[in-house]
This record gives sequence, C-alpha cells and structure tokens, in this order.
Amino acid sequence: MINFFVDGKPVQAPEGSMVIQAAHDAKAAEIPYFCYHPALKPAGLCRMCLVEIEGAPKLQASCTTPISEGMKVITKSARVAQARKDVLEFYLLNHPLDCPICDKAGECMLQDYTFAHARQNSRFRDGEKRRYNYEDLGPKLFRDMDRCVHCLRCVRFCEEIVGDDNLSVFQRGNHTDISIFGSPVVNDFALNIAELCPVGALVSKDFLYQSRVWHLKKTETICTSCATGCNIYMESKDQEVKRITPRINKAVNDHWICDYGRLNYKYVNGDQRVQEAVSRESGEIAVTTPEDLSARIADLLGRTPKDRAGFLITPEATNEEIFEFRRLAEKVVATPNFAYGLVPPEEGKLDFLRNRDKFPNSAGVRRIGASSGLGFNGMKIVEKAESGDLDVLVLFYPHSVIKHPNGAALLTRLAGALSKVKTSVVIDYLKSPASDAATWLIPGLTHAEKNGTMDNAQGMTQKIRRAIFPSPAVIPEKDLLVRISTALSEKGEREKGRKGERESAATT
Ligand code: SF4
Ligand code: SF4
Ligand code: FES
Repeated sequence: MINFFVDGKPVQAPEGSMVIQAAHDAKAAEIPYFCYHPALKPAGLCRMCLVEIEGAPKLQASCTTPISEGMKVITKSARVAQARKDVLEFYLLNHPLDCPICDKAGECMLQDYTFAHARQNSRFRDGEKRRYNYEDLGPKLFRDMDRCVHCLRCVRFCEEIVGDDNLSVFQRGNHTDISIFGSPVVNDFALNIAELCPVGALVSKDFLYQSRVWHLKKTETICTSCATGCNIYMESKDQEVKRITPRINKAVNDHWICDYGRLNYKYVNGDQRVQEAVSRESGEIAVTTPEDLSARIADLLGRTPKDRAGFLITPEATNEEIFEFRRLAEKVVATPNFAYGLVPPEEGKLDFLRNRDKFPNSAGVRRIGASSGLGFNGMKIVEKAESGDLDVLVLFYPHSVIKHPNGAALLTRLAGALSKVKTSVVIDYLKSPASDAATWLIPGLTHAEKNGTMDNAQGMTQKIRRAIFPSPAVIPEKDLLVRISTALSEKGEREKGRKGERESAATT
C-alpha cells in the first residue's frame, strides 16, 4: 500500500492506483472528470481533473498520474479552481443551450460541473457555435454531436469492453466527430454508452423524451432476463417502468448490463399480461377472483388421489414461491408428481456478462430442490398427463418455457398435455398457449411488482424489490400458495377429526 496525502488528509491506496481513483475510493476529495471511468483505461483527454501535486510546476491530470509514497495532492486551491473554470469555459464555447430538451438534463456531468465550478457569466458574445450534421447511429442510440465533449468514453467502451471497433473518432481538433464505419452500432451492450456519455451526445432511443430523469423513482433490484442476475435500477413513473439502468456490483456485473436485459421490461405494462382470474368449465368461460379459484383448487386437491395430481414450477419463480410450491406439492398434497422446470436449462457464460441460461433462478431451484433430489425433470409430469394418468395439473409460470432453445415446441406440447387432464390450473402473469388451455387461470405478478430473492449462476442470493404497485385484483403468488396449503391442511384436519368421531362412535 502507498501512503499519500489529499488536501492534507492521509490516504492509503494500492500501488499503481491513479490519484483520482485513490482520492474517490478513500472519499478524500471529489475531483471532477469527463473522460475518466473506473472500468476503462486512463486516457487523459478532457483536463477536467487537474490537481496540484506538491513539487510539480504544472497542474497534473489526476486520472493519469499514479500515486507515490508521501505524495501531496491539492484539489482545493485557487489554481485548481481557476483551471476548472477555464476548462469548462472551453467546453461551453461550443456546447449548445439544449438542457431544456436534452434527455441527459438532471444527470449531465457538464450541467453539474457548470453549476459547481464554472464562471458565473459567459464571456462569449457573438460568433457561431460549432454545428454537426445529424447522422443515425442505428436503432439503439440517438446522436447529437453538438453536445459532445470528446471524452471518447463511448469509443473506449466499445473497444476495451465489447471488442467492437465500429464506433470511432473521425477528424481532429475542433472538427472531432464520433461516428461509425458505415454499419450501425448494434452490439449487444451498446446502450451502456448512453450512461457512459457524460453529456447528452449519445442517448438511448428507447428512453428518448420519455421522462425527465428527476421524475423517476429508482428501485434497487436485479435483472431477471438471465442467470447472471445483473444488479439494476428499475426506474418508474406513475406506476409504469420507464427504463432499466445498471447498478454497480463488481462481483456480478461491474458497471454494465446487456441491451436485452435493459429493454426487457415492456411486458410489465403490456397487453400480454394475464389480467383476471378465469374459469373455463363445460365450455363456459367465466371471470372470477383468485380467492374463489384458490378455494376451489384446495377443495379439488382434497378430493383428488395424491398420485393423480401433478405440479410443475419453472425457474422463473422466486425462492419464496418455489419453497411454498414445494410445500404444497410435497408436504400438503404429498404427491410424487412434482418437478421444477420442464427440461434442464442451458448452462455457462455467453460472453463477459450474459449467461446461456435465460432463467433467473435455476440455481435457486437446484438449491431448494437438492433435498428432495428433484430438478428439471418436468417432462415426466407432462408424459403422465399425456397418458391420462393425472386428473389435476398445476403449472406455475409456464410462459417462461419459451426461454428454452426449442421453447415454442415445448410450450405447444405442454398446452396439449393440459387438455388431457380433467382440471388444469395455470398461475402466470403472461399469456401463453398453456394459459389459453387452462381450466382455471390465476393472474400473477411480474418481478417489477413484488419482493423476493433469487440465486444467480454464481450461487449468490440476491433481492428483487417491488418497483410499481400491482393491480389490487391480484394476490401475490406466495400468499396464494399459502392460502391453498392452509385451506387443504384445515380440510384434512377437519376430516381427520370427523373420522375420529365416527370411529369412537362406532366403538361405543
Ligand atoms: S459522444 Fe459522449 S461519450 Fe462519446 S466522446 Fe462525445 S461526450 Fe464522450
Ligand atoms: S446479462 Fe443477463 S442478468 Fe445481466 S442484464 Fe443481461 S439479461 Fe439481465
Ligand atoms: S478525467 Fe482526467 S483528463 Fe479527463
């Protein structure tokens, strides 16, 4: 470890650290910056991070200056303050007055630094600001080069993290332009650039003009679009998810998320949601309530021989739901026909972030299922249903079967199996061929609408948190399962009591 000083405060940091990172990590000083990013290689481009180093005649860029033993760094001095003013004046010479219409407003580093460090009056009296022509970078990013501060974070991210050199720097000096070699920026991580860009030069087309960022409620949760379990903020307004942004967790996703996970939120407020409880019996379709159906399920399971009832849950469920589902099937109904998942999910890393397994909680299934020796063997239940060996089949989140490579065929087969049992029950938040075929359909909650935990591919148990309130017509699935188990247990107790009474009456 190296010992040095920041504004007179003693600080320790590992050898090789740059001044800015060491000062920030130790919370010793806040040094402004544009081009520095803790996950990218130092570039020393913007000069916003200038500090005094005792003994050095000129100000130094703290993002490219390594710490040394006994070094004395000064971040609060008239020279440093003047340098910040000058650098900002240089950027503002050309930066347009776009804040009222710029998506980055509210989280723009240039806006914040101008407020904190810039001179209060502009000395710019006349003359044209630099102008660029509009150029489309592809389906994901909106580009406005008039706002660019030439930090090159966007280009460095593509090269260093993604390994895609399509985005590049064209021209030099006052004409510097961030553009593409013909084909659009479509790599699977391109939307990270919208966060990386310190200003509104490259912004997400998906979020363009959707909301001012200060109106968004940020909920700390995890992405449920694959087994990596990236840490995210789910950002919502008026009970609608507006965008997903990464939350730093060095052990899971560092600073990044993939575009698939980032954009996979529209189903929450989409028209494919299961909205209400439905009963389809004797050709009649009736809208009912989850309370009514849970009572009817408990009654039916109480009358069904345990080896003619089947239960199947997918790794889309939370640990708490899997636990309650298992309790209902294994302990309360005590059926041998219980499985987690239809077939084993794919395994292994797809790239530096994504997992081949698109289910968020396969590790939770393995952990909870380990004690009963079960796991991903649901085809046995499907085969039993197909051969007429089941009277009741309860499915939890069957829509997620589509995540398997041959998911469409599996879902069709599952829906076909449902038509072979007398009563099929589907609990789900999205419609699918299985929900269309169910006798009783109960609406569920998406991961944006409930709390719980899931285990990621590394075996880390992480929390999902409710970002928006669900419809009051929906009972959270865990509570629904508890309700069915309790009703069944009470029914069992009552029947045991009655049987005992009959036996004692017979012996007297
Ligand atoms: S587009 Fe944004 S990230 Fe890229 S160089 Fe310009 S300001 Fe930096
Ligand atoms: S890598 Fe997986 S968990 Fe991470 S954002 Fe993408 S889909 Fe979500
Ligand atoms: S942050 Fe140091 S030069 Fe840009």
